[in-house]
Amino acid sequence: MEAQSPSTISLESFTGKSVFITGVTGFVGKVLLEKVLRSVPSVERIYLLIRGNRRYPSAEERFQHEVATSSVFDVLKGEDESAFERLCQQKLRFVSGELTGERFGLSEAAFNELALDVDLVINAAASVNFREPLGDALAINALSLYNIIKLTQVRKTPVVHVSTCYVNGYHQGKIEESVSGPARAPIPKSAAGYYEVEPLIDRLQTRVESIVQDEPEPGDRTNALVEAGLSEADYYGWNDTYTFTKWIGEQLLMQHLQGQALTILRPSIVESSMSEPAPGWIEGVKVADAIIMAYARQKVTWFPGDPRAVIDIIPVDLVANSLVLAGAEALSEPPQHRIYQCSSSTCNPLSIKQVIDYVVQEGKANYQQYPNLFPMEPRRAFIMIPGWAFRIGVTGAYRLAVWKQRLLSGLGMSVSTAQLSNLDTMVKLAVTFSFYTRPSYRFSNEKLSELAARVGDQERSAFPVTPGALDWQHYFRRIHLPGLNRYALRPKAMRLNRAKVRASRSPVGAEL
Ligand SMILES: NC(=O)c1ccc[n+]([C@@H]2O[C@H](COP(=O)([O-])OP(=O)(O)OC[C@H]3O[C@@H](n4cnc5c(N)ncnc54)[C@H](OP(=O)(O)O)[C@@H]3O)[C@@H](O)[C@H]2O)c1
Repeated sequence: MEAQSPSTISLESFTGKSVFITGVTGFVGKVLLEKVLRSVPSVERIYLLIRGNRRYPSAEERFQHEVATSSVFDVLKGEDESAFERLCQQKLRFVSGELTGERFGLSEAAFNELALDVDLVINAAASVNFREPLGDALAINALSLYNIIKLTQVRKTPVVHVSTCYVNGYHQGKIEESVSGPARAPIPKSAAGYYEVEPLIDRLQTRVESIVQDEPEPGDRTNALVEAGLSEADYYGWNDTYTFTKWIGEQLLMQHLQGQALTILRPSIVESSMSEPAPGWIEGVKVADAIIMAYARQKVTWFPGDPRAVIDIIPVDLVANSLVLAGAEALSEPPQHRIYQCSSSTCNPLSIKQVIDYVVQEGKANYQQYPNLFPMEPRRAFIMIPGWAFRIGVTGAYRLAVWKQRLLSGLGMSVSTAQLSNLDTMVKLAVTFSFYTRPSYRFSNEKLSELAARVGDQERSAFPVTPGALDWQHYFRRIHLPGLNRYALRPKAMRLNRAKVRASRSPVGAEL
């Protein structure tokens, strides 16, 4: 019998549909919203869930001041900003809501009305803080999903959920686009394939409550909750609280959205865009960039990691495109659970050594072109050393420097803080990020590539999802570092001014 060829997917499935998106004040969400507004004109309405803040209490105000003003929309605004404003007026609907509040904090009537009008949910909101206190991480990355479940259950609305490749925790080797389990302590698995996490959530919440009761002092309480998250994560087989709670979130969705369309899209380390809306567009300092920046400022010369290992970096525009294609599929295909990994380590492997070489070479050759990134010529080397050598050498040197500083200041002698501060930066970055710089896994993205293959030629080239053909040297030296310098970092004068303002407000002074 002839094998049936898979059906084709088209962006036409968005025609007349209402899409509900969370997380648009963040990095991935902004790029997604821009792409949908610019390249998916058939979408009828886009609901944006945004929580108000002290300055801008409503979603709309916050959008106007913190999102619409972003350079991510420069291409869309083009010559005619009023056309962009009209487009926003026509397509966008604002929902002032807190992800973790019951029904997002909406009235029952408002929530039900929303549920009846939404055709597709794209949930990009999360706490991406690796060391979030356990209770907060659970609330944002797992428990908030009960609201998404409730919103979508009435009409069996398809859900596209942004997760992370690192839900695979301490597993090693080639990691497929499938349900992942704990790498260490066991958690029961259901016949349907997801892990039964609700008893685990109950236990974690009990632990949070007892810490809150036992630690009346807020600082101690936060530290205890951070440590609790990290130790629970490690016990079950994850590096940090973020990835552990994102994994729990995946299980909750799979459990409660049985019979409903659910696509879990797992990006790896998301970095600046390959080409859209502009090459190198990025917001904030991401995982790899914290280390690149510390090197550029000559604060880090040693870092624990394996230079030969393959690191997984994915440009943000490929993530946004993947979300759009996954949405098109979920809207048009029979309901099913799907998992895609938006990653590079199998289709176009990049070693840590390559990243270091490209950054160091570009810094040495052209540092003057990056005044916000490289305040001076980087003269020192950047060397990856094994974790054990880092622990003995750098952590030992740090302890010695702290001890020397205490001794000298105790004797009333002046001490130089530069060396201590550099060691402090190295140790802190290593504690947070070293898991990601000694990778022993590669994330498959074959299913995502198959999804792209089902889209027509024109749409496939307008919505690329895999970095198979990307020249990494070109990406780092011509796209990413210029992008970091231009979009993520402020000129030094601006940083100093902001620091002065902060210092005048804060009794403890300012940090640059
Ligand atoms: N960046 C990466 O390298 C990476 C890698 C893999 C996966 N991911 C996933 O990609 C998604 C987006 O990440 P990102 O890098 O764009 O993160 P981000 O820049 O920190 O943005 C997070 C977004 O979530 C929103 N949010 C958080 N808590 C909320 C709450 N309680 N109520 C309402 N909104 C809330 C934030 O809104 P506020 O502005 O109000 O805080 C913000 O819009 C996440 O699901 C993350 O797990 C990211």
